[in-house]
Amino acid sequence: MKLSVTFTLLAAVIPFALAQSPEWGQCGGIGWTGATTCVAGTVCTVQNAYYSQCLPGSASSAPATTPSSPSGPTSTAPPAPSGTGLNALAKVAGKLYFGTATDNGELSDTAYTAILDNNKEFGQITPANSMKWDATEPTRGTFTFSGGDQIANLAKTNGQLLRGHNCVWYNQLPSWVSNGQFTTADLTTVIQNHCSTLVSHYKGQVYSWDVVNEPFNDDGTWRQDVFYNTLGTSYVSIALKAARAADPNAKLYINDYNIEQSGAKATAMLNLVKQLIADGVPIDGVGFQCHFIVGEVPGTFQTVLEQFTALGLEVAITELDIRTTTPASQSALAQQQKDYQTVVQACMNVEKCVGVTVWDFTDKYSWVPSTFSGQGAACPWDQNLVKKPAYNGIVAALTS
Ligand code: XIL
Repeated sequence: MKLSVTFTLLAAVIPFALAQSPEWGQCGGIGWTGATTCVAGTVCTVQNAYYSQCLPGSASSAPATTPSSPSGPTSTAPPAPSGTGLNALAKVAGKLYFGTATDNGELSDTAYTAILDNNKEFGQITPANSMKWDATEPTRGTFTFSGGDQIANLAKTNGQLLRGHNCVWYNQLPSWVSNGQFTTADLTTVIQNHCSTLVSHYKGQVYSWDVVNEPFNDDGTWRQDVFYNTLGTSYVSIALKAARAADPNAKLYINDYNIEQSGAKATAMLNLVKQLIADGVPIDGVGFQCHFIVGEVPGTFQTVLEQFTALGLEVAITELDIRTTTPASQSALAQQQKDYQTVVQACMNVEKCVGVTVWDFTDKYSWVPSTFSGQGAACPWDQNLVKKPAYNGIVAALTS
């Protein structure tokens, strides 16, 4: 009885089409324009609103599905076939994406792009630099989008979601902003014009924007930058409102690091988003960067995620990497596998954690060695684009 109900439900939501998707292929979901029927021996199964997949079996033996459950049928998902890919597994598990940062200079490396472009591995990309203020408005009122466009076009070609990064941040600012002697009215206009022009340019292409990046110091006090020093905390709502007006469908995030553990900085972020919600300022999500150290993943991470989703927000892991002293020892790589599993599992356990983005997938292009002296080996693929134990840690969490 249950099985026939399942079949009826599936049949009702799957229109017929000529082309058929292969086993494990996508066969439906919001925005999907490809085949909506599956090859023989597989059945199109709704995993979430964004993703239906051809799973092995026939209609009469298909696993029961929960079409509207955002967390997905994790307990009925089939075991992961090897080589399935992180994004494919994340979607089966009910997440929106598994993604990676990338950068324009890396796109001529064909061995690298062969992995980057595989949307079974990565269903979302973030430009690591080319949408930042110094890249997009190097002189006042003059916008350059060529670098950002290259990444946005790549996302479109690859069928990947795009995260915009970022509108307002104290770092990588052109000097006309960081050294500008602005009145409050003038800086308000500068922020509005920057966020509005940037977000408008990518309207309809961006899933979520990091509208404000890293507003807090590690002790939970506000970072003293040109924005805060001139406008106080109001710069946050000025930027969010400009972004919302520019692309009403983009999810608007505030993104930061060291908010992954309970403490002053996480509390400051919680208080900020509570205030924004109370004031009616548009805010949809909080991004947890998750630049971690092997063996030091905070034990309170999932609890903190839940504190934010309890406010009605979505959350995402936006810049995950887990660094160690280089050269990495075998034991460090084994611990790193466990750490990647722990972090991704926390997102899996929180329904409104929409996805995980690694801050580039290979040690070949990681930002870590140039930023943290003597540290590196932070990514799930090594310098030679070979998967590390960390990859298996991610797979273990996605298939748990
Ligand atoms: C990093 C980039 O990866 C580097 O290429 C660049 O030199 C510095 O910025 N937090 C953020 C990201 O929000 O924008 C940073 O990206 C990493 C830390």
